[in-house]
This record gives sequence, C-alpha cells and structure tokens, in this order.
Amino acid sequence: MIGTGYVGLTTGACLASLGHHVVCADADSQKVQRLRRAEVDILEPGLPDLVRDSVATGHLEFTQDTAAAVAEADVVFLCLPTPMGAGGAADLAAVETVAGEIRTVLPQNSVVVNKSTVPVGTAERVADLLGRPDVTVVSNPEFLREGRAVHDFMHPDRIVIGAADREAGQRVADLYGTLDAPVVLTDAASAELAKYAANFFLAMKLSFANNLATLCEHFGADIGDVTDGIGHDPRIGPAFLRPGPGWGGSCLPKDTHALLTICQEAGVDFPLLRATIETNVEHQHRLVERIVAESAAADGSLHGVRLALLGLTFKAGTSDLRDSPALAIARLLKERGAELLAYDPALEGIRRPDLSDLLTVVDDPLDAAAGADACVVLTEWPQLRDLDWEAIAGRLATPTVHDFRNLLDPVRLERAGLRWYGVGRTPAL
Ligand code: UGA
Repeated sequence: MIGTGYVGLTTGACLASLGHHVVCADADSQKVQRLRRAEVDILEPGLPDLVRDSVATGHLEFTQDTAAAVAEADVVFLCLPTPMGAGGAADLAAVETVAGEIRTVLPQNSVVVNKSTVPVGTAERVADLLGRPDVTVVSNPEFLREGRAVHDFMHPDRIVIGAADREAGQRVADLYGTLDAPVVLTDAASAELAKYAANFFLAMKLSFANNLATLCEHFGADIGDVTDGIGHDPRIGPAFLRPGPGWGGSCLPKDTHALLTICQEAGVDFPLLRATIETNVEHQHRLVERIVAESAAADGSLHGVRLALLGLTFKAGTSDLRDSPALAIARLLKERGAELLAYDPALEGIRRPDLSDLLTVVDDPLDAAAGADACVVLTEWPQLRDLDWEAIAGRLATPTVHDFRNLLDPVRLERAGLRWYGVGRTPAL
C-alpha cells in the first residue's frame, strides 16, 4: 500500500483484518513511527483499533521504504493524493513519481492497483510509465465516506474493478473475497469513469436539493417533506437530499472539477455538470445574503457585525476541514466585513490548522456566542442540537440563529427566545 492517507490506511488496515499481509509505505517517517505505535491522526471510527490489532497480529506493517514494501508484493495499491491541479484537472505528480520509483522493483507478474481517483486513461498512463509488460495496472476506485470509511470498506455496496487483463482484475477481486458485495469487473476506463460519475451524481443530488430548498422557501413548503415525498421512489432514493451550506470535502469539489476538465479535453459538453458546480457556489452566496439581510450595518456591509459559527468541518463525524463549505461561507462573510468566532466539537483541544486570518476558533460555544449578532450552524454535529440554547440566547446581542443544516429544533429555540431560520423550511427569510 503506497500512501497512508484516508484511503491507503483504511484499505491497508481493512485488508490486513481480512487476513492479508499488508505493508504500508509512506514518505513521512514520523507518520510511519506513529502508525507503528497505532497512533492514527485522523478521526475515523474503528480505524485505530483495526490498526492496533493488525499490527499486533503482524498482518500490518509500516515502512518509509517504498521499494521494500513493493519488493515482495503480489499486489501494489497506489493510494496517493491527486489534488486539484492547474485548471481544475487532477494533479498526477505523486502517482507518476511513485510509478517511476517502483518500476524496477516490482516483482514479476505483480499487479498495480490505482486506488486514487484518477483521470480516465491513467491506468494506461501508469502502465506506460512502468514499462513492464508482465505487470497489469488495474483500476479499483474507492467509494468510502470519511467518518464511515471502515464500515463502508467492510460493507461495500459494490466493488468496481477495471483491467485490460481479466485475470489480473479477478486477482484483485479475490482480495475482497469474504466481503458480500456485487463485483463490477470491467475495463480500466469504465472503472475510472464510474468513480467520477458516482461523485458527480451525488453532488448533483445535493445541488438539486439546495435549489429545491429555495423553491420551498418561496412557497412556504417544507424541504424535508418534499424530499420525503420523492425519496420513497426507489428510482430517486432518500439519501443525499438534505439541504445544507453547500457540498464540500476533499472529494466532491475536486472530482467534479476534474471531471469538467476531462469533459473539456474530450470535447464533450456536459451542462448538467457545470450547473451542479455553479449551483453550489450560488447557493452559498444566497445563504450569505440571508445573513446580510438580517444583520447588516446601515451601510449594507457586515463591518462591525460579529457572528458565531457553529461547526467548521465539512460534515459531522470528521475533523477534516478540506474544502469545507463552512469555511467557504466564512470567507464570504469575512469579505463583507464580519468578525467571526467559531466553535467546532472536533477541533476542541487538538492541534488545529491556523485559521487566524479568517476567524478565531474557541473551545466553548458560549464564548463564540458572546456579543454576537447571530449564530450560524454550518456542520450537522448532533451535540450542537443539545447545547444550552437558553444560555446562548443570553449571550447573543441579537437572538438570531441561521441553521444551515436544519439541525435544531425550532420550537425549542423559539422557547429559548431565539429566531430560527432554516433552509427550505418555515419560518424562513
Ligand atoms: C464522498 C462520497 O460520498 C464517497 O462515496 C466517496 O468515496 C468519497 O467522496 C471519495 O471520493 O473519496 P465524503 O467526501 O466523505 O465522501 O463526503 P460525503 O459524505 O459524500 O459528503 C459530501 C458533502 O455533502 C459534505 O459537505 C456533506 O455535508 C454534504 N451533504 C451530504 C449534504 O449537504 N447533504 C446530504 O444529504 C449529504
């Protein structure tokens, strides 16, 4: 397993727990030392236990030496970052560098698996870089959700494997042998595209739900009831229809932009994809305008306005701030002049990224609320629901809560003397 980020570490630990012997390589020597002690620095339920148990049984090892990890492997997984590069395309530098490093050390007839999300054609590109006719490059995209990665690995709804050589694909499929899931065995391009198509479709559902919420507000309809009214249809499904502060995280934005570049390069116009991305940006602007409409100073700006942000991570259950919609909204509020104080339960007492240019992170929601002109709920942490809202009401300068996750109980908040504004749900602005 080359790379011990979310995907590599989860895949490595889970495959080890299925009985395989897994060696995980990472260039960061300190991280390797920590992982050998089963110290996992990401918030991922079940993962630390899995790592500790598999290290103890000897099924899981960590090394800084990529060549050593590869030297005796039957299958080599590339789990490397593919960040958004120039013009939105996926940056393949890490994948290409590692392909160069391992080409001469790969054992005879081994299989190399692209686990990272990579542009269509990358399996072929890696095969070219390796220049090893005896080695097959297989695409096996992951569909893990952060915060549920171990669960999703152990209970996959499908396993997608793409390879030019069916036998190599089957070898990868066999690694998951004990898991009960349909296996889609196909060519590499189809597997690579399936990954982008999945994240695009999910993003499209969310942009749809967020636009639908605006329509609900116009008619005084309730978004929860409308999505309930459509979600029972199995052709639509109930999942991924909760409106929010826009979709984010380390995957959906990156992958939709990368797919847009793929479409442009292929000369294929995909208006739905453009609309999905643009809708997300417009939705966030709309939500910010709602705060401005409620709290702006006489000059229409947010200068002199203090806001308490509750939740910063891109969703609940993770400490990940990458491409968080909460930060995107914070940036827009800051541009309008607002002073921002933020509380997030996942960031309490940990070494957190420096956000001081944008906002001040505090360890107590009451400190965030002190003197603020409104509270803005940005992440659906269940514990925010149970905060002492009477005490928060007592601290706020203006008793307003913008609940961009429809998380809170409006009746309870009204009882605490607070004005509650949800998304696509009355009472709304
Ligand atoms: C996403 C996909 O869900 C995984 O299937 C995929 O494997 C992963 O990307 C990846 O490509 O690695 P993840 O990034 O963990 O997983 O995040 P999601 O749970 O999909 O949430 C994405 C965003 O949508 C978050 O900002 C979340 O708050 C938002 N969301 C989700 C909503 O606003 N409403 C919903 O109903 C669901």
